[in-house]
Amino acid sequence: MDKFHIVGGKTLEGRVAISGAKNAALPAMAAALLTSEPVELANVPRVRDIGTMRSLLDELGVDSSIAHEEYGIRLRIEARQLLSPLAPYELVKQMRASVLVLGPLLARFGRAQVSLPGGCAIGARPINLHIQGLERLGAQIRIEHGYVKATTDGLKGALFAFDTVSVTGTENLMMAATLAEGETVLENAAREPEVTDLARLLNKMGASVEGAGTETLRIRGVAKLHGASHTIIPDRIEAATFLVAAAMTHGCITLERVEPGHLTAVVAKLAEAGVNVTADSSGQGKSEQASLQVTGPTTLRAADVTTGEYPGFPTDVQAQYMALMTQAEGSSVITETIFENRFLHALELMRMGADIRVEGRHAHVRGRTPLSGAKVQASDLRASASLVLAGLAAEGETLVDRVYHIDRGYERIEEKLTRLGASIRRISEA
Ligand code: UD1
Repeated sequence: MDKFHIVGGKTLEGRVAISGAKNAALPAMAAALLTSEPVELANVPRVRDIGTMRSLLDELGVDSSIAHEEYGIRLRIEARQLLSPLAPYELVKQMRASVLVLGPLLARFGRAQVSLPGGCAIGARPINLHIQGLERLGAQIRIEHGYVKATTDGLKGALFAFDTVSVTGTENLMMAATLAEGETVLENAAREPEVTDLARLLNKMGASVEGAGTETLRIRGVAKLHGASHTIIPDRIEAATFLVAAAMTHGCITLERVEPGHLTAVVAKLAEAGVNVTADSSGQGKSEQASLQVTGPTTLRAADVTTGEYPGFPTDVQAQYMALMTQAEGSSVITETIFENRFLHALELMRMGADIRVEGRHAHVRGRTPLSGAKVQASDLRASASLVLAGLAAEGETLVDRVYHIDRGYERIEEKLTRLGASIRRISEA
């Protein structure tokens, strides 16, 4: 298992290109199941979850090929036929987003068999809403031997209101509804930019999805979808992680290939903490080519934060923000409202000298405490990012174990950080 060896205390400076969003690329790959024609996706990040989704498509009998480009990879996916409707436990347990094949398989082939994901480090994370919604569209669903077994003679448009906002739940139902007979209305839908990006791709494929980015989605079903080409949006979570990295090391970096409009809540919170983020005047003007410049202050201020659905502060940036708050003057309260158990990184940060008290959904952080390098262990994707950030700001050497978590969603983070002047190297073990 690979580890990162970090020597802290270096100031980050320079430019970094942000990769395409993993959480937009995964549903886009699943959407390719909805047509027999090729779907081409550009700006797909080179991360492990993309490889896992490709393995899953391969299991289903779908062809995909990959071309390396200057930024990320270009994927060509062609789902001419279905060899098997089965998403096996071995793949779903590695990546919960595997559940995204459920809606498209059911809509196009009338059958799907997807392993239940089970628990994960950050909470129970059920898929009951995906199942209820598909049943509302007329699917017959049984849970047997740990699998969701779904069949249909043809989905029918319906009204479904989510009682909790779910990102992949919204995406699954939106994809299923594109090939249903009649109109589907999804209420209390997720408004995340990744959901909007998927709607854009589906419409290019001939679907009729309206209302993306709002709480109500209207999808008029069509008989058939066709192939399309699409460029994946920039990863707002990777961008936020680099903003925090500059802030924590009193650095000054420029993020290229970002979409500033997707980072409003993060940038506003960082401003409260004294971090200056501005649009880079040397930017190209085209939105996906926009740049942001961030300058870390000498003194960071404590600022409370509460995570929320988009456009709120992302839960996927909560761990990184906690690392930042350990370096701010004063006390802050971090409230997690999306996942019930998403504070595992607090214990590891405390091993590096942070003063954090977790009480239910709240973490009380008292700053500023000097961090000292230590051996720490990553528990999930974003938690591992927070430990890398802490390592960059710590005095001495930090060894982050289980970096396979970080490889799931960050494209070679150590190479990008090294180019910015950080001292971080990967130790590969057989
Ligand atoms: C997606 C993101 C993940 C992010 C999360 C919240 C992808 C691939 N992953 O995950 O990075 O952290 O959104 O922004 O896009 N819930 C239910 N029943 C369901 C579905 C969800 O109770 O059927 C609950 C969950 O337990 C959680 C909340 O709803 O408490 C939000 O989860 P959801 O938006 O579904 O997260 P994911 O789509 O899995």
